[in-house]
Amino acid sequence: MKLENFDLQDLKARIEQHFAAGADAIGNDDALGSFIELRSALEAGLLRAAEPDSAAPTGWRVNAWVKRGILLGFRIGKLVDLSIADHTRGETLLFGGHPQITLIDKDTYPARTFTPEDGVRIVAGGSSVRSGAHVARGVIIVPPAYVNTGAYVDEGALVDSHALVGSCAQIGKRVHLSAAAQIGGVLEPVNASPVIIEDDVLVGGNTGVYEGTIVRRGAVLAAGTILTRGTPVYDVVHGTILKATAETPLIIPERAVVVPGSRAVTAGYGRQMGLSVYTPVIVKYRDEKTDLSTTLEDLLR
Ligand SMILES: CC(C)(COP(=O)(O)OP(=O)(O)OC[C@H]1O[C@@H](n2cnc3c(N)ncnc32)[C@H](O)[C@@H]1OP(=O)(O)O)[C@@H](O)C(=O)NCCC(=O)NCCS
Repeated sequence: MKLENFDLQDLKARIEQHFAAGADAIGNDDALGSFIELRSALEAGLLRAAEPDSAAPTGWRVNAWVKRGILLGFRIGKLVDLSIADHTRGETLLFGGHPQITLIDKDTYPARTFTPEDGVRIVAGGSSVRSGAHVARGVIIVPPAYVNTGAYVDEGALVDSHALVGSCAQIGKRVHLSAAAQIGGVLEPVNASPVIIEDDVLVGGNTGVYEGTIVRRGAVLAAGTILTRGTPVYDVVHGTILKATAETPLIIPERAVVVPGSRAVTAGYGRQMGLSVYTPVIVKYRDEKTDLSTTLEDLLR
C-alpha cells in the first residue's frame, strides 16, 4: 500500500473511532482500510507501538492507540485458510490426503513477504514475519524464527534460530538475539510497555525477557538469563537490587553484564531445606573482555 499521503493524526482518529465501535467495526470498510494503513505504516517503520521519548520516565513512550489499532485488526479479521497451496495447479498440496502445511489465521494478519530490495536476509528453512512487524535493512533472520505483529527490529539486528520476537517488542540496532532467545510480547493492556531491547545488546542463548522489561543499550544477558517483572536483579557491582515498580518495569542498566545465578532462601521451610531460587546477577559492566566474547563474525554478515 502507498503511504505518500500518510496523515498520522487522521489515521489515529479513525483507529480510535473504529476501536471504540466494538463489534460494529466488523464488516466496516473504513475500519478495514484504516487498519491496513496502520499495518503498512508499522511495516514501513513510520509508526511504532513504543518509541524513544526523552520526556518519558523510562525514556520510552507507549503509543496505546497503535496497540488498539493492532487489536482492531484481530477483531475485524476473518479466519481464512492460508495453507501452502500449489498455485500452479490452483490447489492445496496434498500429503496423505491432507494439506501439506495447514495455516489458518485472521485474514488481516498474513505472513509478510520480502524482496531482495528490502535488504533483509531471511535464511531458508522456515521463519515467519507476521504482517504489521517492521524489519529494517541489514537484519538477518535465521530459521526457524518468528517475529510477531507490531514488533520493530532495527538495522543490523540478528534474530537467530528458534528466537521469538513477541508482539510489539522493540529490538534495537545491531542487537544479537541468540539461538532460542525469547522476547515476550505485550499487546494488552494497551498502555503497558512492550519488551524493549536497546541498541547493541547481546541476548544470549535460551534467554527470556518478558513483561515489559527494558534492557538498556550495550547490556549483555548471558545464556540462560530470565527476566520478568517479578524477578529482582542483584547488582553486585553497585550493591543494589533492581526491581520493577507499579509505574516502571524492570530496567537493566546500560552495559550491565547479567548472568543467571541463585540466592539462598532465607526463611521458613525453604531455608530449613537449604533451598535456593534462581536470580539474575549483574556481575560486572561491559569491558574489553566482554566485547571480545560478544563480537559477531563480520564475515557471516
Ligand atoms: C556473558 C558472556 C558474554 C561473557 O562475558 P565476559 O565479559 O567475557 O564475562 P567473564 O568471562 O569475564 O565473566 C564474568 C563473571 O561472570 C561469570 N559468568 C560468565 N558467564 C556466565 C554464565 N553464562 N553463567 C553464569 N556465570 C557466568 C563468570 O564466571 C565470571 O565470574 P567470576 O568473575 O566470579 O569468575 C558469556 O558468558 C555469554 O553468556 N555469552 C553468550 C553466549 C551465547 O549465548 N551465545 C549464543 C550463540 S547463538
